[in-house]
Amino acid sequence: MSAKFAWVTAAATAMIVSAGVAASAAPGDPGSPRFGPGAPGAGDPYFPLAGNGGYDVTHYDLEIDYQPPGPAPAPLEGTMQATATLSITPTQNLDQFNLDLRDLDVESVVVRGRPARFTHDDGELVVTPRPKMHAGRPVRVEVTYGGTTGRPTDIEGALYGWVTTRDGAMVVNEPDGASTWYPVSDHPTDKATYDFDITVPEGLVAVANGDLVDSRTSNGRTTWSWSSRDPMASYLSTASVGNYELRTSKTPDGLPLIDAIDRDLAPDASAGLAQTAEMIAFFEGEFGPYPFDSFGAIVDDDSVGYALETQTRPIYSRRASEGTVAHELAHQWMGNSVSPQRWRHIWLNEGWATYASWIWAEHDGGTTAREQFEDVMAIPADDEFWQTIVADPGATGLFAGAVYDRGAATLYALRQEIGDAAFGELSRAWSQRFADSTATTDDFQELAEEISGRDLAAFFDAWVRTPAKPTP
Ligand code: TRP
Ligand code: ZN
Repeated sequence: MSAKFAWVTAAATAMIVSAGVAASAAPGDPGSPRFGPGAPGAGDPYFPLAGNGGYDVTHYDLEIDYQPPGPAPAPLEGTMQATATLSITPTQNLDQFNLDLRDLDVESVVVRGRPARFTHDDGELVVTPRPKMHAGRPVRVEVTYGGTTGRPTDIEGALYGWVTTRDGAMVVNEPDGASTWYPVSDHPTDKATYDFDITVPEGLVAVANGDLVDSRTSNGRTTWSWSSRDPMASYLSTASVGNYELRTSKTPDGLPLIDAIDRDLAPDASAGLAQTAEMIAFFEGEFGPYPFDSFGAIVDDDSVGYALETQTRPIYSRRASEGTVAHELAHQWMGNSVSPQRWRHIWLNEGWATYASWIWAEHDGGTTAREQFEDVMAIPADDEFWQTIVADPGATGLFAGAVYDRGAATLYALRQEIGDAAFGELSRAWSQRFADSTATTDDFQELAEEISGRDLAAFFDAWVRTPAKPTP
C-alpha cells in the first residue's frame, strides 16, 4: 500500500517536472493559473525530439516560394522563402512551446498577432508567446522562414525531406523529415488538415496532397494551391516540384485521380498506374471504403530511389511498377488513415502494404499469396532475417526487409490461424475503428482476439516479438 503510494507520488512529480509546470504560479493561489513549457518531443523513444507536447496542431497553411537550382554547373541547392500559419490548440497552459524545424532560418514568429521571442537550435524552434497561452483556447502561430535547400538524409543515410533536384524537389518525409521544410509537430500522433500555396517558376508544377484548388501565374511564377481536408500525419505531406504533366480522371465510383508524371521519363515509367481504379475497387472489398477524397501518383525523375505513400498521392522515384503502386495504395488505409502511434509499430504499415501487394498479384493472376508466404518461410532459421524483432525493429531498422516480409507473412499466417472470414472482418474493423487516428501492435492483437474469440498471445509473441523463426 505505502509502496504503491510512493510510486504514484514519484510519477506525479515526474509528470509535473517534465511538463515544466512546477515553477510558475504560487501553489495554493487559485486566482493565477499555472503556466509552463510544452515538451520538446512527443515521447517516441525512436525519435525523442520528433513532435512536441502541450498542444495539438489542427491545421497547417503553408505558403512556399521555391526556386530550384537549374542545370549544372549551378550547385544542387534551391532557395525557399515561406510563411507557415499553424492553428494550434494548447492542451495545457503554455508560456513556451516547441516546433520542429531543421536547417532553415527563422525570420519571425507571430502568435495571435503579436511578435514572439524564439530561439532556434538543433532542429528545435522554441517560442515564448506573450501573452501566455491558455489550455483549450485555439491560437494562430505564423512563422516566416526560409533559406537554402539541399539534400537532407534520414537516420540511415537515405535521402528524405525536401530533396532538392535540378528541376524541382522530391519531397518524402518518413519518418521525421517534414521538419526539413516547415515548422511542424513532426509525429503521427498529431494529425492535421493542410492548405498549400506553392509558387515556382512558370512551366514547373507543384503537387501536394488532396485536391487541386487553383493555379495562377503572374510575373513568370505560378502558384499551385492544394487542399488536404482529410487529417494527415506530417510524414505523409508532400509538395513536390517538377517538370510534370498533370493527368486527371475519375474512378467509376467518382473518386478524383490526379497523376503528375515527369515529362523527362520514358512512357513505360508510369505503366504500373494503369490499373489504379481496379486496385482501389479490389482493396475496398478487402479493407472497406477508400479513406480519403482523392488519389493519384507523382512519378519523378529524381535520384531518391524509393517510393513513399504520401497521402492521397504516393510518389515514385523514376518508375511506378504495378506491385509498388498496389503497395502504396494499400498504405492509404494501412499506415495513412490508421497510423503508428509509436514508430516501433511500423510493421502495421509495411506488413499490411506488402501483404496487400501479394493479394493484388494473386487477384490479378500472378504469383499467389501462398507462394509469397512460402518464399519467406524458405529463408533458413539461422539467417539474420529472423533476428529482427518485427514489433520493435529499432530506429535504424524501420525499413528492414523483415518489417515488410515477415510482417506480411505474419498477416498471412494469422489468416490461416483464424480463418478467412474472421481475417476479412478484422481487416475492415481495423481500418474503421482506428480511421484518421493511430494504433499499436497491442491494439491489433486485441482486435484480432475480439473478432476471432481466440487467445492469440502465443501467436503474436512468436511472429512479431521474438527474434527467431516462428514454426507455423
Ligand atoms: N515507407 C516506404 C514504403 O514502403 C519506404 C521508405 C521510406 C524507405 N523511407 C525509406 C525505404 C528509406 C528505404 C529507405 O513505401
Ligand atoms: Zn510501404
